[in-house]
Amino acid sequence: MATIGKDLYKAKVLLETGEVIGLPTETVYGLAANALNPIAVAKVFEVKNRPGFDPLIIHTDSLEKVRNWVEDIPLDLELLLKEFSPGPLTVLLPKKDIIPDLVTSGLSRVAVRIPKHSMALELLAMLDFPLAAPSANPFGYISPTSAKHVDQQLGSKIPYILDGGNCDVGLESTIVGFEGDQLTVYRKGGLEIEKIESHFGTVDVKEHSTSNPAAPGMLKSHYAPNKEVELMAMGVTEFRKKTALLSFSEASTHLPREKQFILSEEKNLSEAASKLFEGLRYLDALDVDTIYLELVPDVGIGRAINDRLKRAAAKG
Ligand code: TXA
Ligand code: MG
Repeated sequence: MATIGKDLYKAKVLLETGEVIGLPTETVYGLAANALNPIAVAKVFEVKNRPGFDPLIIHTDSLEKVRNWVEDIPLDLELLLKEFSPGPLTVLLPKKDIIPDLVTSGLSRVAVRIPKHSMALELLAMLDFPLAAPSANPFGYISPTSAKHVDQQLGSKIPYILDGGNCDVGLESTIVGFEGDQLTVYRKGGLEIEKIESHFGTVDVKEHSTSNPAAPGMLKSHYAPNKEVELMAMGVTEFRKKTALLSFSEASTHLPREKQFILSEEKNLSEAASKLFEGLRYLDALDVDTIYLELVPDVGIGRAINDRLKRAAAKG
């Protein structure tokens, strides 16, 4: 198992020597490596068992530093960064040659994000390179929202996990870029689309595709537990014997309480987002065959929650 701790200096030294570590952010934990070191980046793909066509986000601590890694920042994306960073926002920008092709899977744009987590920001400020960091889960599985989750899944493959507590947001960042001259959301996430639209008017939202590497980040089946997963039709009362249920705010009277996980009894979508992956993990560890998922109200961060629920239930 990996060592879990809060030693930023140790983290810095490991990263400088090309190691991969667990990194807390406000969205989910990342699996971080020096983005400018292709060997370290290759290790990230290997540890995660991630296909090479799925590019990585680079993380840094200031807009000034972002300019070191990209050719240009279109005005609207700069405004977005100024308004919502640090925060659960990732923007796609034309990369400089210094960013290895491995990071972007050969694409000309690099995904950049400034995370809002004090430990991550402090560490990033100590580094003169950005950190490439996908979510710290094996490819296709549920993203981690605590150091323990990272340790359970990848602890045997990495030397160190920085412990920054439970993630506040609990869902990955919202990814935004230009598709031609249209501002486009490529992945729904922790930054509500409504907030972006309040500044820029209606934006396009890409829905997930089946397995199209040309639209990375959009793999349909993702965030998936090991069990059979079904989206629940409204008003289901007959459950098979070995069934578990993830619901928004109310327990079902048709299943034992311990086979259920409620996201937010107060019907608070932010709370629901922060508990989503923990809930999926909890239910996945039960002795059940099928996990039913109830969709949440499709507004604000609820849109990102529903996106993850649908992907968890998607076949293939
Ligand atoms: O909140 C987050 O974004 C977390 C934390 C650790 O920062 N990171 C994260 O990384 O979710 P990952 O690798 O699990 O998801 C990043 C997504 C991928 O689906 C990838 O396809 C997409 O971003 N992506 C990365 N670079 C891209 C690029 N240049 N163009 C299009 N999509 C890109
Ligand atoms: Mg991920």
